[in-house]
Amino acid sequence: MRTEIARPIRLTDYKAPDFRVSDTKLVFDLHPTETKVTATLTLERIGAAEAPLVLLGERLKLLGVSLDGRALETSDYEVTPETLTIGDVPDRFTLDIAVQINPQDNKTLEGLYMSSGRYCTQCEAEGFRKIVYFPDRPDVLSKFTVTVRAPKAGFPYLLSNGNLIDAGEDGDAHYAIWEDPFFKPSYLFALVAGELDVLEDAFTTASGRKVDLKIYVDTGMRERAAYAMDALKRSMRWDEEVYGLEYDLDLFMIVAVRDFNFGAMENKGLNIFNASLLLADPDTVTDLDYERIESVIAHEYFHNWSGNRVTCRDWFQLCLKEGLTVFRDQGFSADMRGDAVQRIKDVKALRARQFPEDAGPLAHPVRPSSYLKIDNFYTATIYEKGAEIVGMLKTYVGPEVYRKALDHYFQTNDGTAATLEDFLKSFEAVTGEDFAPWLKWYVQAGTPHLSITPSYDAETQRLTLALAQVTHPTPAQANKHPVPIPVRLGLLSEDGAPLTFTIDGETVSDTLFVLREAEAELVLEDVAVAPVVSALRRFSAPVKLTLTELDAHKFARFRGDADPFNRWEAAQSLAKDLILSATGTAAAYAEALRATLADDTLDDAFKALIIGLPTEPDLAQILTPVDPAYIHARRSAFKAELSNALFDDIEALYERFEDERLEAQAPFSPDAKSAGRRALRNALLDLMMASHIDADDARREKLNWRAQYHYQLSHNMTDLMAGLNAVAQLHGEDYDGTLEHFYDMFKTEPLVLDKWFAAQAMCANPETLNRVRRLTQHPDFDARVPNRWRAVVQAFAANNPSVFHDVSGQGYDFIADQILLVDKFNPMTAARLVEVFGGFKRYAEPHASLMKAALERILATPDLSKNVSELAGKALA
Ligand code: ARG
Ligand code: ZN
Repeated sequence: MRTEIARPIRLTDYKAPDFRVSDTKLVFDLHPTETKVTATLTLERIGAAEAPLVLLGERLKLLGVSLDGRALETSDYEVTPETLTIGDVPDRFTLDIAVQINPQDNKTLEGLYMSSGRYCTQCEAEGFRKIVYFPDRPDVLSKFTVTVRAPKAGFPYLLSNGNLIDAGEDGDAHYAIWEDPFFKPSYLFALVAGELDVLEDAFTTASGRKVDLKIYVDTGMRERAAYAMDALKRSMRWDEEVYGLEYDLDLFMIVAVRDFNFGAMENKGLNIFNASLLLADPDTVTDLDYERIESVIAHEYFHNWSGNRVTCRDWFQLCLKEGLTVFRDQGFSADMRGDAVQRIKDVKALRARQFPEDAGPLAHPVRPSSYLKIDNFYTATIYEKGAEIVGMLKTYVGPEVYRKALDHYFQTNDGTAATLEDFLKSFEAVTGEDFAPWLKWYVQAGTPHLSITPSYDAETQRLTLALAQVTHPTPAQANKHPVPIPVRLGLLSEDGAPLTFTIDGETVSDTLFVLREAEAELVLEDVAVAPVVSALRRFSAPVKLTLTELDAHKFARFRGDADPFNRWEAAQSLAKDLILSATGTAAAYAEALRATLADDTLDDAFKALIIGLPTEPDLAQILTPVDPAYIHARRSAFKAELSNALFDDIEALYERFEDERLEAQAPFSPDAKSAGRRALRNALLDLMMASHIDADDARREKLNWRAQYHYQLSHNMTDLMAGLNAVAQLHGEDYDGTLEHFYDMFKTEPLVLDKWFAAQAMCANPETLNRVRRLTQHPDFDARVPNRWRAVVQAFAANNPSVFHDVSGQGYDFIADQILLVDKFNPMTAARLVEVFGGFKRYAEPHASLMKAALERILATPDLSKNVSELAGKALA
């Protein structure tokens, strides 16, 4: 029975804590089902004289409480399922609390739990209260000393935050004592105990301090941590060079675990990672995995300053650490892999996940105003839109002033729990300007629509741009205000050459204009010829742009915009129009693509991206009502047409790369250039495969052996997966055989098996629906392991739109069943899937009614978690 009461937490109700906890001593006696935790807290009143002490705790068996050494009677305190309250306490005192918990039974993967026989923790956001009673809120910062005791057998490593200050033995048991000298909130606490392999290295900081680096992994996996270690050292150097931020402890540890609810966690000095975002070698992970590992290692490491040294006052400020840290890790990845390609990937991700969220019933501001479960707010809006806001601020003030503002932010807020206002204050401090208008980006939900209408007067050589913005109403926010929108723009002539113009007396080919009001006019002088307008360069603001222009202009930008982002953007925009207009033909598009592929000034990674057509979800965002089958059919037909038009070219290019690959004796390297070459070759393969629609027997046979060869001659997971996906796209006779072959090769590699499951779940063939059901009965399927469950269920619902949205509604039923199943033991993970039903109102019938019915069935289920009921309720509202 759940006893949870659904009462929203509101930002306006924020109250500073009544007590400070200057010191926290924890002792863990680890036991699978009866772990004993004792906490000794040094408390000091900082609030009202009458205020009782309220500690938070969930699913804890209270063994005893004493105050200043005196054991309390049960009448001295009150225990509810969520709190421990002591009414009468002095202004300064010590409290000893002992509780018992059951890590083995904890399948929520929050608090202290067991994974592969090891103990580990996840406390953000509100998991610490499942370990012991505590003021579990981010604005209570304490100095932690932690004793971990466990049997020697099976638990050789005992880890927690900070520095190891003592260790010893005690019969069959042993212990370790850790002290973290930095004040931190409880959500950054971590503990790991068990059998591990460790990869060790060291890093010398800019100021000459030596830091020991240790990455702990499953036994036998040490070599696979080498790439993460390398990425870690590059991250540490980058943060010193770009932000002037150094690491602050003598030891930095990362542990990879199998069972984890999300990607990774930045616990002070002891990051914990989902093994899928840490372990890497060429035979088991793809280039995309390498890329993600590099960025997540950086992300968690960067949190040491943006998150840990400066933390959040309350969870409404979550994006203070997440938006900023995503922006920082994107900057790192751009420096490692190229700015244009990184920017395109980041914007693709923003549009794929954040734009739909902001346009649907789950839309919320980057700083929400209320929540039931904060875990539901680790969203694309808080992370990705949050990062975009920081990016706009940087674009607006310029890189040097941005750095000064960030220096100011870290210096003035170090050791504190800050707010978004504090962040903006630092920009005000270094510029003397009022940044209040920018706060609207944080408190107003919805993606602004920006329209730009150019008009050129040949006589005066003047270009006038009419700009306007509007943000549509979102749930609980009917009235919207203009936000400051930085618009970077340049001009080119129709043959693609950059065109200069005069603004504010200066002759330039690129300028930055900030649209602050609902409407404004921008005048550019000395424009020699009728120009092509390249607006919102490098995607200078997270808005939906409507630019009034001719298709010829889009083609000019596709072929030669000086801004590579807008080159890609022009291609995407053309492709969207052509796909959705039933009469569009691919001929002109194919020509422009041919020219792009032949352009030696462009790198392979960029070409690979521009080959990729807008996805079905991209198209679903601009078609109302959404008809998934139509989108799938139109996109496949357009892709086939493109493939046919370019077949000889792409085949020749593909073969050239293939020869080059077969001749190359160089060992695999995950570097950006090599990965870009593989990405391009695999994109060519994918485009070739698209011509199977309406293909004659000869073509079909050719495609079959191409796919098989690609698969069989692969020397790394990137190419192998590309081969497998090509085979899946053809969905011919050898599909099952290839899957079997893959399975036999990797049945002992859980992380690779996840790919095997996901590849099948994402196959856009109507048969996939039955296959996915069968996969949930597979002996290797386990819904309790989030990675495996997501590999099948999430991959299907989020990445296979044409089958998920099957008109029968069976896809919806399947997903609703899975949400309800997992909600029984892991609400946090179950709830993340609710969003796939979010936009139901935008869908054509019968989809809208069937999706709605699935949501209603979920919501009507007894004993639903707060997590799922909050999101299902909002989705239906
Ligand atoms: N702070 C972590 C990160 O972004 C993520 C924590 C997610 N927590 C949650 N309850 N969903 O690096
Ligand atoms: Zn983060």
